[in-house]
Amino acid sequence: MAKNNNKFPKNVGIIMDGNGRWALKNSLQVSQGHKKGVDTVREIVEVSVEKKIKSLTLYAFSSENWQRPKSEINAIKNLVIDAINDQVPELKEQRVQLKFFGHLEEFGNKVINKIKYAESETNFEDPKLNLNIALSYGGQQDILDIVKGIAADVLDKKINLKDIDQKIISEFSCAPVESIDLLIRTGGDKRVSNFLLYQIAYAEIMFIDKFWPDFKKTDFIECLNNFKKVSRRFGKRL
Ligand code: FPP
Repeated sequence: MAKNNNKFPKNVGIIMDGNGRWALKNSLQVSQGHKKGVDTVREIVEVSVEKKIKSLTLYAFSSENWQRPKSEINAIKNLVIDAINDQVPELKEQRVQLKFFGHLEEFGNKVINKIKYAESETNFEDPKLNLNIALSYGGQQDILDIVKGIAADVLDKKINLKDIDQKIISEFSCAPVESIDLLIRTGGDKRVSNFLLYQIAYAEIMFIDKFWPDFKKTDFIECLNNFKKVSRRFGKRL
């Protein structure tokens, strides 16, 4: 019989879905749902540090989220700024390195400057956890950007066509993680929604039937323990 993997994942990705429905269920504004969602982020980061997870990559805002009402978009922008202001001292204490990725330029200078501040404040040589936040990110857009970037370098003769490999693809991706071991999606829907399409090739995927603000430390630990029980074969016969 194939052996259990028996290890915690190195690289975890999370699609934090269900803030809006959580707010509706509790007769609150959608922005209150997102605010509550940040509390869950803090809890999940704490567990990730405790369990020595190498990286945690969170889908905070997709390329498609720009189609939401302006008021909600503004609330999320302010939330990112507030979360950075509130959380950076604690993240520094825990030696968590923050990185943001995606088409960040679309968020404007105020958010960009805050992101730069957060990244420089947490730029550890030997971080305990890499916390990556996807903002204005879409996996298909990333693949398009990768192709254009590599093609331009081939035309400029900086890269030989025969040298293009998976490492080069990862280097050209805006995502600071090469491969995801465990992908969690809360909120009950069973889809990937354009998140890290290239990097989730061999990810174990867990769909959780709870809204993101209701996802607790114990739920996350249960996911990590379930991951240990999986037999990961990567196409091989074990
Ligand atoms: C999905 O719920 C959640 C979002 C689109 C935003 C998540 C953003 C945060 C929790 C803020 C993160 C900020 C930092 C700095 C970590 P939804 O609104 O799509 O939920 P619904 O499907 O119920 O409507």
